[in-house]
Amino acid sequence: MEEVKNRFVTIKNHINGAPNESDFEIRSETIYTESKQVVVKNMYVSVDPYQLNRMKSHSSSQAAINFSAAITLGQVIDAYGVGRVVASGRPDFTKDELVVGLLTWGEYTIVEEGRLLNKLDPMGLPLTHHVGPLGFSGLTAYGGFFQVCKPNKGEKVFVSAASGSVGSLVGQYAKIFGCHVVGCAGTQDKVNLLKEKLGFDEAFNYKDETDLKSTLKRYFPEGIDIYFDNVGGEMLEAAVANMNTFGRVAVCGVISEYTGGGRSAAPDMLTVVYNRVTIQGFLAADYLKCYGDFISTTAEHLRTGKMQALCDISHGVESVPSAFIGLFRGDNIGKKIVQLEMNE
Ligand SMILES: NC(=O)c1ccc[n+]([C@@H]2O[C@H](COP(=O)([O-])OP(=O)(O)OC[C@H]3O[C@@H](n4cnc5c(N)ncnc54)[C@H](OP(=O)(O)O)[C@@H]3O)[C@@H](O)[C@H]2O)c1
Repeated sequence: MEEVKNRFVTIKNHINGAPNESDFEIRSETIYTESKQVVVKNMYVSVDPYQLNRMKSHSSSQAAINFSAAITLGQVIDAYGVGRVVASGRPDFTKDELVVGLLTWGEYTIVEEGRLLNKLDPMGLPLTHHVGPLGFSGLTAYGGFFQVCKPNKGEKVFVSAASGSVGSLVGQYAKIFGCHVVGCAGTQDKVNLLKEKLGFDEAFNYKDETDLKSTLKRYFPEGIDIYFDNVGGEMLEAAVANMNTFGRVAVCGVISEYTGGGRSAAPDMLTVVYNRVTIQGFLAADYLKCYGDFISTTAEHLRTGKMQALCDISHGVESVPSAFIGLFRGDNIGKKIVQLEMNE
């Protein structure tokens, strides 16, 4: 039996609005591991907006899928990540192996049988790539763009939260595929990055705009064929108003609605009917069947420099709350990750 001293982040109360540092605490525990468990030293863990919906007293997302189950106050919080095995009571994992899977916002994860955990072959790429573009954000972007948006070359694509983890990848897949891509983001620096580093055709700061419908009309005088929605709210309404006939809207997430401050989107359904617009929500987990294609295509794009990985890294378990809170303030550029193993 191994004894592990662990520090982890938890919530003190349910969070029904915007998150604050005071909602979180760092706890210490001593864990005595049992046979059949794998003890993983967490190295890099993912910080994602959906966790906020898990922290609410109630959210329709909590009953939808295991990944999004409600978080119990005071308990460890599951998160995707990369780590190293420090002890294993299972024949399929050995000490010192690199692994990727469902870890925690803590220094160690005790992995029970049945929990998502795979051996990781870094393929010569940085470990952070396996949390970002080759992790769930990447699968979300790949499955959402190719399977839900069903793009054709030359189509006009709009991406919101375009400098974020998922958005930055969607825009790059769309450019490589041969679409015309416009993104929006919340600062001028992010806008410059989209155009200068990621190859977007156009980009704008949505916070500078007063009438989003006219803004989108200006960027898409011939209409939008595909809208990859990461934010919901007014942006979704404005995009729907500009959709072309048989346009597709992939609803990946609605972050502007998570903190409860904004109102929910009410797109003009007459436009949806007469322009025969498809609006489809989806989850990354729906596209696990594309996993092999997704990894080989994306790894190749990253190796050849056709795609850029944007990773935004904070350090230490204490930084998890501020890293998470920052997502809702637009602090991050690209995939928000917390590094927990400083020797890497
Ligand atoms: N369906 C799925 O399986 C799945 C999987 C992963 C993520 N998602 C969803 O995809 C979206 C993006 O997730 P991500 O992990 O890539 O996060 P992210 O885009 O890396 O980070 C969040 C970004 O959203 C923007 N934002 C925050 N509040 C906003 C608001 N009120 N209005 C407009 N923009 C706002 C901020 O950028 P700005 O500076 O541009 O404001 C912020 O940097 C989220 O809605 C998330 O829930 C869905």
